[in-house]
Amino acid sequence: MVKICCIGAGYVGGPTMAMIALKCPNIQVVVVDISKPRIAAWNSDELPIYEPGLDAVVKACRGKNLFFSTDVEKHVAEADIVFVSVNTPTKTRGLGAGKAADLTYWESAARMIADVSKSDKIVVEKSTVPVKTAEAIEKILTHNKKGINFQILSNPEFLAEGTAIEDLAKPDRVLIGGRETPGGQKAVEALKAVYAHWVPEDRILTTNLWSAELSKLAANAFLAQRISSINAMSALCESTGADVSEVAYAVGKDSRIGPKFLNASVAFGGSCFQKDILNLVYICECNGLPEVAHYWKQVVQINDYQKTRFVKRVVSSMFNTVSGKKIAILGFAFKKDTGDTRETPAIDVCHGLLGDKAHLSIYDPQVTEDQIKRDLSMNKFDWDHPLHLQPQSPTAFKQVSVVWDAYEATKDAHGVCIITEWEEFKKLDYQRIYDNMQKPAFIFDGRNVLNVEELRKIGFIVYSIGKPLDPWVKDLQVSI
Ligand code: NAI
Repeated sequence: MVKICCIGAGYVGGPTMAMIALKCPNIQVVVVDISKPRIAAWNSDELPIYEPGLDAVVKACRGKNLFFSTDVEKHVAEADIVFVSVNTPTKTRGLGAGKAADLTYWESAARMIADVSKSDKIVVEKSTVPVKTAEAIEKILTHNKKGINFQILSNPEFLAEGTAIEDLAKPDRVLIGGRETPGGQKAVEALKAVYAHWVPEDRILTTNLWSAELSKLAANAFLAQRISSINAMSALCESTGADVSEVAYAVGKDSRIGPKFLNASVAFGGSCFQKDILNLVYICECNGLPEVAHYWKQVVQINDYQKTRFVKRVVSSMFNTVSGKKIAILGFAFKKDTGDTRETPAIDVCHGLLGDKAHLSIYDPQVTEDQIKRDLSMNKFDWDHPLHLQPQSPTAFKQVSVVWDAYEATKDAHGVCIITEWEEFKKLDYQRIYDNMQKPAFIFDGRNVLNVEELRKIGFIVYSIGKPLDPWVKDLQVSI
């Protein structure tokens, strides 16, 4: 029986390994992590991450050929294939701080693999890493262990949170990069054989190591670029009276462009886009390509601009101050169908409003009060550095309450901000919400999920990203 061990039981390691276990009953899969609570949760009925369909997949194989353990060294030592899916955050200090990838977790995993291995292994980069990381990893592995053959493969993950199970079951492609040596190609074939249990062969792409590493960064940069492009257009739509949804539809009908990823919004979030683009920017700078670096940096800058623009719209519409006003924040996760809050635009929007002394009442169906408060108390980029988390400051939260119901959040509020596109927010009784709010009642739809006309009929003053402005909002705008 082939034995797989995956280091890192997170949003990628957990679901990816569960799918491999489901599709390959003849392979034993052990997911290991240094976090005891995370592993305990994977072994319980309350999985540590919310992902539609994940429960069923885990339940089908856990205890049969899928195991979760904190005994990292034992399972790494026993494995034939070791996936490494640990976090690769943005560096917060030192050379490249704020841009470069921090490979501390990766390096310590590699050193541990070198230390405990007694047999040949294929080591698979599942984490998103800077191009050429495999070279560094190879050096760590081969210098620390004489006589053991390690083959490094790059197998970046393209799943999207919220649709991870669908994406894993029917991937657009699986990408495997390896050395162009006989040993490297043999390793590529071995990993290909794992995916071939359920992925059609023409969807399994093989490349050299560097192409595979760079393709992941490039894919995320292209995806994020589409969002920043439509968000940049949304600002122009508001100024000209065009409707961004109509523009996106018309543009997306061009088969060369296509309709996906053209929804204007308050901004993109998530653990990957910003981090991976900043990493790409840093790599370009290090390779003497400042123009290319500048080009990609704009994608992140437009994203920051969009969040600032949203906050300015809220404040300027509400008579240029939200001081002492109650604002309901509906949605905190970075997108629907996940409880993940990493780099969620909600954090920057909340900080912006708190800076203007608003009182926030926050509701998200999948995010706990603890998580929200931790997110609002952390420094930028610290969220992905479990080792240097800042202590919480209880006084910072006097202006924040977290509630478990959208009606409770909006009761007596002056304004409502929709930050996550949860389906349930489309179905709320907005007449009831309006009746229980202070007047004039404002709604700021950061996801364009609400019916603007119906809300205006009820009496709301509505701002929806990239849509023709409510006369009220237009009259009160300072320059944005
Ligand atoms: P995560 O933070 O959810 O999981 C990483 C896990 O690795 C944590 O549970 C941590 O405790 C564990 N870990 C860190 N160092 C360890 C060590 N030395 N030994 C054992 N466990 C260790 O991160 P996530 O979201 O799963 O991301 C992992 C990688 O995959 C990152 O490089 C990310 O960029 C990439 N990625 C993430 C995607 C996403 O949607 N979240 C999609 C595609 C790639």
